[in-house]
Amino acid sequence: MDKYVIRGGNPLVGTIRVSGAKNSALPCMAAAILTDDEVILESIPQVRDIETEKRLLASMGAEIRLGDTPHTTIISCRTLSDPVAKYEIVKTMRASSLVLGPLVARTGMARVAMPGGCAIGGRPIDLHIKSLEKMGAAITQEHGYLEARVDHLHGAHLVFDKITVTGTEDLLMAAVLADGETLMENCAREPEVTDLASLLTAMGARIEGAGTSTIRVKGVSRLHGARYRINPDRIEAGTFLVAGAITGGDLIVADCKADHLGAVIGKLQETGARVDILGPDTVRVRADRRLRAANISTEEYPGFPTDMQAQYMALATQAEGVSVVKENIFENRFMHVQELVRMGANIKVDGSTATVLGPARLSAAAVMCSDLRASASLVLAALVADGESILDRVYHMDRGYERIEEKLQGVGAQIQRLGNIFTPKSEENVAV
Ligand code: UD1
Repeated sequence: MDKYVIRGGNPLVGTIRVSGAKNSALPCMAAAILTDDEVILESIPQVRDIETEKRLLASMGAEIRLGDTPHTTIISCRTLSDPVAKYEIVKTMRASSLVLGPLVARTGMARVAMPGGCAIGGRPIDLHIKSLEKMGAAITQEHGYLEARVDHLHGAHLVFDKITVTGTEDLLMAAVLADGETLMENCAREPEVTDLASLLTAMGARIEGAGTSTIRVKGVSRLHGARYRINPDRIEAGTFLVAGAITGGDLIVADCKADHLGAVIGKLQETGARVDILGPDTVRVRADRRLRAANISTEEYPGFPTDMQAQYMALATQAEGVSVVKENIFENRFMHVQELVRMGANIKVDGSTATVLGPARLSAAAVMCSDLRASASLVLAALVADGESILDRVYHMDRGYERIEEKLQGVGAQIQRLGNIFTPKSEENVAV
């Protein structure tokens, strides 16, 4: 099993580049289901979740090939011979529920394995189901699969009980081909929703209000192909900003979108890190003095992202004073805490609140990665720990960070991988 060996102590200095957003790429790839033309997506990150989605689409009959660059993916869903999302594929990636809406919209039928329990909480998809039913789909659940059938979806007035990112995306993809108008309220405003809406619009969809909490869609009878470049990954960018600050470095985070990083940049500034926006896609972070504690409370966009909570907590262990970290989006998203504590952090958890007392002298240890962002948190802690840490189960990192060890080495980190670097090629021949 692959591991990282990280020797802490080096300030990160130089320029580090951000890849395309995994969480935009996933719904954008699913959107290709909505047309029998080719959809060409640029800036697709080479991470494991993307390979999983490719396998998922291929298992349904889609043709997928690389474009003119390694980050360009061409998807043709002309033939969807088997509109089924099989458990063997879905179990490794919850975002597979994103194919539900587009499959029903395009073929009138979908069978999607229910996503299993996830390390960061129950993560139900009841809001997807309820909304599709409102649009006319008949949904049954049997043998661990959810089956949806409809002659043709019709527009509806959907009000999400709770803000859901993939729920908003799933229903948006259902609504673009439905008869009539769909009004969606209490929608997620994440940039990934806006990214998907931009692609759908380029494919001929009629959407208003993406990026706000109310989205209005006028259904069209057919969508055509498009070429679209997805946005940079704001969570990867945020992780690098924390890496620069926690190591007392001077890091330029390039190819990002500063506009999408408001909450993270604001919080880093509150801790005393110097963050300068050098341009719309370049942010510099420096930390040449002891950081101060600052509280965070995770919220939907534009609030502080839950996907940055674990990384921020690593930083908080190095800040002077008490930082209160409140997790409001997912239950059970503190699995990094016990590993940080094993490295010497002083953190107490009470329900959805963690209290971090810093600064703590972190000492290197053998630790276990439990999920994608928890792994990132441990990498950050190891970068400042005294000695050589060994991180086990780094396959979690491969789900969402493209060649992070190479990127970090490029700015001075001492990080080595024991085992094979993840590349899409190593996955190519996996049977579907
Ligand atoms: C997406 C992101 C994930 C991020 C999360 C919150 C992708 C692929 N993943 O996940 O990285 O952490 O947004 O920003 O984009 N909920 C329900 N019923 C539903 C759907 C959601 O109760 O039908 C609840 C969830 O349990 C959770 C909250 O709503 O408490 C938000 O979840 P949601 O926004 O749906 O997260 P994901 O879209 O799965």
